[in-house]
Amino acid sequence: MSSPIVTVEIDRDRQDLVIQPPTSGLGLRGRIRVPGDKSISHRALMLGAIAEGETQIRGLLLGDDPRSTADCFRDMGAEISDLNEDIVLVRGLGIGNLQEPADVLNAGNSGTTLRLMLGLLAAQEGRFFTVTGDKSLRSRPMSRVVTPLEKMGATIWGREGNKLAPLAVLGRKLAPSHYHSPIASAQVKSCVLLAGLGIEGRTTVTEPALSRDHSERMLRAFGADIEVDVATHSVTVTGPARLTGQTVVVPGDISSAAFWLVAAAIVPDSELVLENIGVNPTRTGVLEVLQQMEADITLENEREVAGEPVADIRVRSSCLSGCEISGDVIPRLIDEIPILAVAATLARGKTTICNAAELRVKESDRLTAMATELAKMGANVTERPDGLEIVGGTGLTGSHVESYNDHRVAMSLAIAALVANTPTTIYRAESASISYPNFIETLKQTIGDE
Ligand code: S3P
Repeated sequence: MSSPIVTVEIDRDRQDLVIQPPTSGLGLRGRIRVPGDKSISHRALMLGAIAEGETQIRGLLLGDDPRSTADCFRDMGAEISDLNEDIVLVRGLGIGNLQEPADVLNAGNSGTTLRLMLGLLAAQEGRFFTVTGDKSLRSRPMSRVVTPLEKMGATIWGREGNKLAPLAVLGRKLAPSHYHSPIASAQVKSCVLLAGLGIEGRTTVTEPALSRDHSERMLRAFGADIEVDVATHSVTVTGPARLTGQTVVVPGDISSAAFWLVAAAIVPDSELVLENIGVNPTRTGVLEVLQQMEADITLENEREVAGEPVADIRVRSSCLSGCEISGDVIPRLIDEIPILAVAATLARGKTTICNAAELRVKESDRLTAMATELAKMGANVTERPDGLEIVGGTGLTGSHVESYNDHRVAMSLAIAALVANTPTTIYRAESASISYPNFIETLKQTIGDE
């Protein structure tokens, strides 16, 4: 099947990944199934835990982040079977019936776990919760969800004026509200909607641009009354809702597929088919931008699975050109900017990424991370307050680069290493397991696959 063209080594002490670029003429070939969508996996576990009856989840992402969600909800009394890709069973407690946990809830590295869960905790009347996460999560802004929850009557304490985890929450009877979010964030939107589920009346969130809509789709499928006003980017839940357990089929994560889309586009003589990828229009900004950059990408076998659009995506190598990435497309490709930055280093001309300051408060400061590490590899990158400017076509040189313990930075640099002229070492690359546990194995198998 595969020939040893790329050498991938994990050093046991330092957890580094060493990548030898493939010899010319041997590209990436084959069919890849990427793991389940991270956003949908979190939501399936959470809605399952607050629904009545049983939820069945097929294709759950077995990454560290959904494991954190499962552990938190188990600690609050939800019955969740062992996690596997085939089928996970969740026996829910009903909205408002989460139990007071005996210890601190730990969201690990996962912003989605912590921010969405806070919406539910704030509404558990009379129960007390403490929540925390790893070093990265404890430095990420929580005021974006604490502020709207406080407007609804929530009682939350936290470090630095309730801005940072660890946080403590005393559940209350909340009041409906209309929150105008200053940022387009699915985590903020989902947090408020989840808090609104148990409230009598209408809880609305308006955001400046449309963010991913998995919560809206799944809440509706579980029986909530959800209204969407596309023109104003507003979503309303009318409560009190009653959710009933459902079967959720999780598609492949387009954010994980993005690494292979760019890899096949930039490594000569490549052709990959990425099977069963979620192509929800609130997530497909990466496809639009790559097509604008003249990548050879086609969607095949388009279908709808359990309320989410799904397709197989074929990508062949091509000559990319630079482009501008800004405005309303940013929330639709927010997690793909690190790998798009890699594509830009190989493209003819200049690529400008603007309006992406949100990247500074992800698992790492992804603007600084990508600018610094790609520059070490010889790329012409300028860091801007809200983005990056990359002049492509300079070629990449193998180097020792830092992943900042950030899964998407680690995987983006691994793909960049495929087109460098000498080997690259990526420090702490095991962080890939946050969203893509088999990334390194797939990388080994895909190079030179006939
Ligand atoms: C997510 C929303 C996005 C994204 C994150 C997952 C979600 O964050 O970056 O990886 O599942 O709701 P923001 O809501 O902060 O933009």
